[in-house]
Amino acid sequence: MYNFTNFFSKFKIPFFTNFEVYFDLGTTETKIAIKDKGIILRKPTILAFNNRSGDYIFFGTEAKEIIGKTPDFIKIIKPISNGVIVDFDSTVALIKKYLDQSVNLYFNNQIIKPALTGIATVPSIATEIEQKAVTESLLKAGLTQIFLIEKSLATAAGAGINIFSHQPALIVDMGGGLIEVAIVGSGGIISEKTLKNGGENMNKLIYNYIYLKYGVVLGEGTCEELKINLLNFTEEEKILTVRGKSLESGLPKSIKVKSSEIKEALLNSFNQIVDAVKEIMENAAPEIVDEVNKQGIYLTGGMARIKGLNNFFNQELKINIIQEEINYYATIRGIMILAKNKEKLEKIII
Ligand SMILES: Nc1ncnc2c1ncn2[C@@H]1O[C@H](COP(=O)(O)OP(=O)(O)OP(=O)(O)O)[C@@H](O)[C@H]1O
Ligand SMILES: [Mg+2]
Repeated sequence: MYNFTNFFSKFKIPFFTNFEVYFDLGTTETKIAIKDKGIILRKPTILAFNNRSGDYIFFGTEAKEIIGKTPDFIKIIKPISNGVIVDFDSTVALIKKYLDQSVNLYFNNQIIKPALTGIATVPSIATEIEQKAVTESLLKAGLTQIFLIEKSLATAAGAGINIFSHQPALIVDMGGGLIEVAIVGSGGIISEKTLKNGGENMNKLIYNYIYLKYGVVLGEGTCEELKINLLNFTEEEKILTVRGKSLESGLPKSIKVKSSEIKEALLNSFNQIVDAVKEIMENAAPEIVDEVNKQGIYLTGGMARIKGLNNFFNQELKINIIQEEINYYATIRGIMILAKNKEKLEKIII
């Protein structure tokens, strides 16, 4: 029998419904939200491709868990690197999968699928072609129309800043790929500095540190585990036992790693962030510096969860630091906030 449901679901009628989906395609983690419902998906930006069958076979956490354990014909792909799409087809496949696991569940039983308007962020360093890749990948994944906004603006809004006010604010977004230091105000980015030494690069620094100090090779996931569990800028000294491969014997070896060691491995990276903030403040107008001094600096992104990071930055910069757990998701929350006021949203659409 002819399947009418399938037939009609192919038609998308733009004026049928105003269904809005928001995307933060992060280097490490993809976040999806929908209007009036909030964040509905947060999953790793990673998938696995089977070269033999030509299919994408694992997505998200499942793909992350098999890093380093697969035969040659299974390729693990991180389609977004340093905040921009580096593998278009894999990005489309991942978005499609994540839409099926979240947004599409809302109209499984509907005959006509509503037109989906997407709003996504792109980092300021993205070129026009890289911006277009975001739009095209979302269209190809099934959305009807896409609007892009600059990531720092969304992140600032998500951290509770009124980006349209004339009181500039400074945010430091510390993600898996990028560290973006930005001063925002009057509906735009006043100045910005981007570093490419985000959380994933820090995992590599931990790998190098352990390799040099203990002669042990660790898996990527283990390095991240050490960072998340041990790194803090408080007095707390935690210990974690992890297993890797001894360079000497080629056999598995356990080592005990301390918080202070992870801090030592990563201190240089955090000092570079401090330098970026100093540089941006040095080049800012006196009125801006004064305002930032009054308001404080906002930390956002996954690494804003590191305990005591506010104290570290405060000691180095002598400015109040605002570090709140909720600002881990500032970018996607910011899109939700900005999308509420369409008149203002129009002013910041790229
Ligand atoms: N508690 C924690 N302590 C330290 N690092 C953490 C913690 N939680 C998450 N991270 C790190 O934060 C990073 C992910 O942050 P986030 O989700 O903001 O990145 P992203 O948005 O995917 O990347 P980007 O914005 O750079 O494209 C990862 O490197 C992860 O290891
Ligand atoms: Mg991010």
